[in-house]
Amino acid sequence: MDSGQPVVRRLTRLISERGPISVADFMEIALGDPEGGYYATRDPFGVDGDFTTAPEISQMFGELIGLWCADSWQRIGAPEEFALIELGPGRGSLMADALRAISGLPACRAAARIHLVENSATLRDAQQNALRGHDVSWHERVPSLDGLPAIFIANEFLDALPVRQFVKTGKAWRERLVDYDPADDIFTFTPAGAAMPDGPQAGRLLADAAEGDILEESPAVISVVGEIAAHVAAHGGAALFIDYGHRRTAVGETLQAVRQHRPISPLEAPGTCDVTAHVDFQRVVEAAVIAGVRPLGPLDQGVFLQRLGIRERADSLRGKADDRQTRDLNAALTRLIGPTEMGTLFKVMALSEQRIELLAGFDSLS
Ligand SMILES: C[S@@+](CC[C@H](N)C(=O)[O-])C[C@H]1O[C@@H](n2cnc3c(N)ncnc32)[C@H](O)[C@@H]1O
Repeated sequence: MDSGQPVVRRLTRLISERGPISVADFMEIALGDPEGGYYATRDPFGVDGDFTTAPEISQMFGELIGLWCADSWQRIGAPEEFALIELGPGRGSLMADALRAISGLPACRAAARIHLVENSATLRDAQQNALRGHDVSWHERVPSLDGLPAIFIANEFLDALPVRQFVKTGKAWRERLVDYDPADDIFTFTPAGAAMPDGPQAGRLLADAAEGDILEESPAVISVVGEIAAHVAAHGGAALFIDYGHRRTAVGETLQAVRQHRPISPLEAPGTCDVTAHVDFQRVVEAAVIAGVRPLGPLDQGVFLQRLGIRERADSLRGKADDRQTRDLNAALTRLIGPTEMGTLFKVMALSEQRIELLAGFDSLS
């Protein structure tokens, strides 16, 4: 392992002082450490980077999300002022494409106050470039927004938030921790010595879990969804979450790492690879209901984008495209909606204030 990495130094020091740490602490430091964390130190997107996200595949993605926001603004009563807030905006491409589409409805664009939640200084610079000419406020966490109605969007943000892991041993659950083995110079998983008397929260849903089964829980996801939902319940608005994940809480390990578009072990190279986990949408739905908003979905991304008109948008772009652009456009469409690509792996979920029954894309069950 590269012990020159500030993240590796911080993790080994922490473990030698305190003993094994939670997977959540490991993930938080690996991704977010201000000195050497993965997002703090690089722009990881695109073919030359580590992975490609939907807004980087095609402008169509951000444009359709923009139209979804404009439509949601109308459904919540077209307030004269509202917060349009994106969490984890990456390079800022989604928001730039969305704002171009929203400008087709000038009253909506005029009403929108743009807020970005981003903790990486490097990516804030990229966002500033992409959004030049727009008035934007940045925040480390969900801001209070002065009681304005708000439309929240988050693509591949929840999967970057830390998860805890638990392992079933005998009749009990133990937290799965991360230790450091100096002899082999590697991080390893180890179960906590003591069993959890009440188990993890979702353990109650999984009474029949077998010996060795792993369960993941993200208090950070529940907390941020709860904050957003509480804002929507109190001040009005909507939220849209797009991410890879599962509809029902289930056992299974989804913690993963990727570097240069290839999977690697999540403990192998902290600080230099993206570490994520699948989102448990059942828990997101529960957090929304507890906060008093209406959950919609999750739907498959392919279904959602087709309902918003991605095929029609592709037809219109093809009308102005040369042969190479047409090939790129067709490839992008397949990646975004194809069932063996992002179309079914990625799910889309919305939250709305209680008096709004439906939002665009969620107008029938699937
Ligand atoms: C996988 S990227 C997704 C980027 C973008 N939404 C896209 O689709 O291209 C995750 C984003 O969330 C940001 N992020 C991760 N953890 C965060 C946290 N705890 N607080 C604020 N931003 C965070 C990262 O810096 C990055 O911008």
